[in-house]
Amino acid sequence: MPLVQRVSPVVHLVLVGLALASVASTTLARAAEKVELSVDTSKTGAKIDRNIFGQFAEHLGHGVYDGIWVGPDSTIPNTRGIRNDVVAALMALKIPNVRWPGGCFADEYHWRNGIGPQRVATLNPNWGGVIEPNAFGTHEFMDFLRQVGSEAYVSINVGSGTPREAAEWLEYMTAAEPTTLAKERTANGHPDPYEVGELGIGNESWACGGNMTPDYYLSQLKIYSRFVRNFNLAQQGKKQMLKIAVGPGGDGPEWTEWTETIMKAYQHHEWSWDINGLSMHSYTVVSWPPLFASVGFGETEYTQILKATLGMEDLINEHSSIMDKYDPQKRVALIVDEWGAWYAPLPGTNPGFLVQQNSLRDAILAALNLNIFARHADRVRGANIAQMVNVLQAMIMTDKEKMVLTPTYYVFKMYVPFQDATFVPVAFDAGTYTQGNIKLPRVDAIAAKDTTGKVWVAMTNLDPNQAVEVEANLAGITAKSATGETLTAPKVDSVNTFEAPNTVVPKPVSAKLQGSKLTLKLEPKSVTVISVE
Ligand code: AHR
Repeated sequence: MPLVQRVSPVVHLVLVGLALASVASTTLARAAEKVELSVDTSKTGAKIDRNIFGQFAEHLGHGVYDGIWVGPDSTIPNTRGIRNDVVAALMALKIPNVRWPGGCFADEYHWRNGIGPQRVATLNPNWGGVIEPNAFGTHEFMDFLRQVGSEAYVSINVGSGTPREAAEWLEYMTAAEPTTLAKERTANGHPDPYEVGELGIGNESWACGGNMTPDYYLSQLKIYSRFVRNFNLAQQGKKQMLKIAVGPGGDGPEWTEWTETIMKAYQHHEWSWDINGLSMHSYTVVSWPPLFASVGFGETEYTQILKATLGMEDLINEHSSIMDKYDPQKRVALIVDEWGAWYAPLPGTNPGFLVQQNSLRDAILAALNLNIFARHADRVRGANIAQMVNVLQAMIMTDKEKMVLTPTYYVFKMYVPFQDATFVPVAFDAGTYTQGNIKLPRVDAIAAKDTTGKVWVAMTNLDPNQAVEVEANLAGITAKSATGETLTAPKVDSVNTFEAPNTVVPKPVSAKLQGSKLTLKLEPKSVTVISVE
């Protein structure tokens, strides 16, 4: 299992002691701090690509089976085997793309096992060694995407597959001409070619994807990029499938060497191969293997995790600057296609299933990362939180017929208006929130203008003890009204459960507008999104 074999691939290492004090932090009444924001809507930046709100669904634990797929004969309400409750909840997130089938699983996935009336039962050696029934295969994944209204980000098997196997999978999915494979797809119920928006050429090829050196991977990348074609006529122009190369998994010399190798080769690449993106994986853990509890922790662990997650900024800067050297026009996107908090498995669960709770801390962590991606919108044009249902930092948790939406779900919902909106710079002095020997910015904020001209401001108050009075100067607009929502809860480790699903849910927040001045109060440990018309 990669869980034990991996050599600290993850990143955001913070040198703090693991004092696992589990006293939950509650709000102390203190005077609110003041923060001034200056939002200049006349100085817009890059488009915040909606693909940074992508999701990841791996065949891992209950991520696919039970979480998405229950089968057509299930008593759980479903459409062609896919849970109706999960689909309805995900639709509200306007998910741009779903990365599938892995993760480490992808480099051992053989697509033929998952098509046709007779499915082959195999094993899932990466994740608990359980039976993989292959009941959820290509057609089921595409059906799920159609129901949710999203696009396919397919990771092909480079580790244990062949270029021919991957090329045939793409032909099976995308060919309109009556080739033998297209006819097989038709016989399996789908005459029209599918669209594949993004193609991941391997996954973590430096570890679970085959322990390749950068040069060895590069040689594979060239072959797969050349031969794995998308034949869908609708995707030959603007909607062209994006080819994503495996990229770094952290900071440090071995990772910069990886990015250097791929990007240097890209700079003068021959006509016969190409890439449109470089992936990056970066989980928030403080030590490896992950020891932090996902619930039942206090302010110390809250700040340790937030400090660790803010390392995403340095990591993006580090790898973007290498990319800038070889690709100043920013043709190749940096795609953070695995990110999120990775904690110790919940006691009593299969450790190979990566089950963890999702608390207010994770909501704040999600907002901070989305803000970082938005600030790097010119290079970061895709990201996939790990993972969508029941695994790691999930949007949704299920247990048989029950379903609960996590605090992270609500952040993704509140941030929907930022999808494809234009970045607007925000200037502010963040102030400092101090806990023990850790110092964090007290607040974080981003702003954007949507296509209707509405301005959106997202603000996070990291301080769990003190409210913040915000005075935002909105230069360049005459605002008429401001409305918004805030997400907070009594404790930093507050969670939603099947029994109490509404502990961490957004509530309306009042903001005052006077001319171009917006004032509002940010509750301690909260995420707030305001729209100004
Ligand atoms: O998301 C869980 C695992 O983390 C993925 O399978 C792998 O790519 C990464 O190591």
